[in-house]
Amino acid sequence: MKIDTSTFVISNTDWKKSPKENRLEYAFIGRSNVGKSSLINMLTNHKNLAKTSGKPGKTQLINHFLINKHWFLVDLPGYGFAKVSKSIRRGFGKIISDYIENRNNLTNLFVLIDVRHTPQKIDMEFMQYLGETGIPFSIIFTKSDKLNPYKLSQSLIHYKSEMATVWDELPKMFVSSAETAEGKEEILDYIHEINEQLGSGFMPRM
Ligand code: GTP
Ligand code: MG
Repeated sequence: MKIDTSTFVISNTDWKKSPKENRLEYAFIGRSNVGKSSLINMLTNHKNLAKTSGKPGKTQLINHFLINKHWFLVDLPGYGFAKVSKSIRRGFGKIISDYIENRNNLTNLFVLIDVRHTPQKIDMEFMQYLGETGIPFSIIFTKSDKLNPYKLSQSLIHYKSEMATVWDELPKMFVSSAETAEGKEEILDYIHEINEQLGSGFMPRM
């Protein structure tokens, strides 16, 4: 699938103010600085559609983008950023957990993991929470350009084996880079496949 049009719709702190739930929606989540906003720009062929920064905590809102006039792509705030993670539900932030638990048209959540890191407690706990809440998710490993092919494959093997100690079935996984555009086709084709299965990006029954 190619993205022909991507337009910013609205930013909110409250999921209730998000656009009508009549389109399929794909959201990007992960620790601050993992590369969520950069990945969205890479997928949509934009430099600045989603705001990026070298400093963690850049994205503080739920940002909706309308893609190909059919489906929503959502940039979410990062979790695990000290300034915002204290005294909030489950440590992931109330904005995030309210959005995840209530947004009916959320079709797939992409959990982003920096491919250079060994499995982190907060990511494992977050995926555990998604499992318990029944939210379909996939993993996207980011920043693949930062590792050589050997280190990259070692890191992936290690991550998968750690995941396998907790999960009977591993989620779908992608490897990506906002620098080299690795993973772009695979991720967009995966979204396209789901859109086709569920009705071209619309939610006919809602
Ligand atoms: P928050 O909004 O703070 O939660 O962060 P984020 O996950 O949206 O990260 P963002 O896209 O703002 O990127 C954080 C930093 O990582 C920026 O300096 C990006 O340039 C850099 N970065 C993101 N993706 C890649 C990548 O694939 N390769 C490399 N080399 N750098 C990346
Ligand atoms: Mg961001």
